[in-house]
Amino acid sequence: MSIIKGVILAGGTGSRLSPLTKVTNKHLLPVYNEPMIYKVIKTLTNSGIGDITIVLGGESVGDFVRLLGDGSEFNASFSYVYQQKAGGIAEALYLTKKIVEGDKVAVILGDNIFENTFKSEIEEFEKTNAYQCCLFLKEVKDPKRFGVAELDGRNTIKSIEEKPKNPQSNFAVTGLYIYDENIFKVINYIINKIGYSKRGELEITDVNNYYIKNYKTKAVKVDGFWSDAGTFDTLIKSSNFIQSVLKKE
Ligand code: DAU
Repeated sequence: MSIIKGVILAGGTGSRLSPLTKVTNKHLLPVYNEPMIYKVIKTLTNSGIGDITIVLGGESVGDFVRLLGDGSEFNASFSYVYQQKAGGIAEALYLTKKIVEGDKVAVILGDNIFENTFKSEIEEFEKTNAYQCCLFLKEVKDPKRFGVAELDGRNTIKSIEEKPKNPQSNFAVTGLYIYDENIFKVINYIINKIGYSKRGELEITDVNNYYIKNYKTKAVKVDGFWSDAGTFDTLIKSSNFIQSVLKKE
């Protein structure tokens, strides 16, 4: 088991999926044969991470705990943290400070479905001092929906723009982020110096840009399927992908 801690961010409102999310939480909706959050948990556990903190929001907290319990069903150990309002991905991560501070951490968004796991990247990050942040990119047709990386000729990230009108590339920054022990200091800096964005969120893109500028960040291009599952179209796309994988097995 890895010594890197895991965080799953499953707060937020899921408003893009209303009315599916009127009486339940987005991350409990099915992606083909399992609740969405199962797939996300397995991305971490299959990458060797067993100590996982899950940030929850909204009104379905009891359902999450009944579904997931203490984590033993996944050979993992779960802690839970509550985010009162959807104040952004970086805010949700900051709420885990008391549990995670002092360790390296792999953070995954609760609606990000990956085909592959990231064992080798996690193991390398555990050992190395050569870089302090690892981000995972995927080429997409619709970059405007995402954080988009501007790359130089050597595939180093120069900067990231959140939901740009004129994207600098087709490389979306996926919702898997690995950070060193400085992560909470960095978020604290963002809280004090940049604050919340126009959409009322503490932006993970501001955190990532800080790492890119002040530390070393590695960019990994993701092989295989990746999608968020937070819209009607991407939810069914994710379900169809899992169905096709299971049919082959
Ligand atoms: O999917 C990748 C994209 O995710 C990145 O490319 C973007 O840079 C990043 O900002 C994010 O964009 P979205 O606007 O799609 O994020 P969304 O608001 O849908 O939130 C994604 C997950 O993060 C959601 O399933 C739960 C968690 N979350 C989100 C917010 C706003 C929280 O736990 N708390 C929050 O307050």
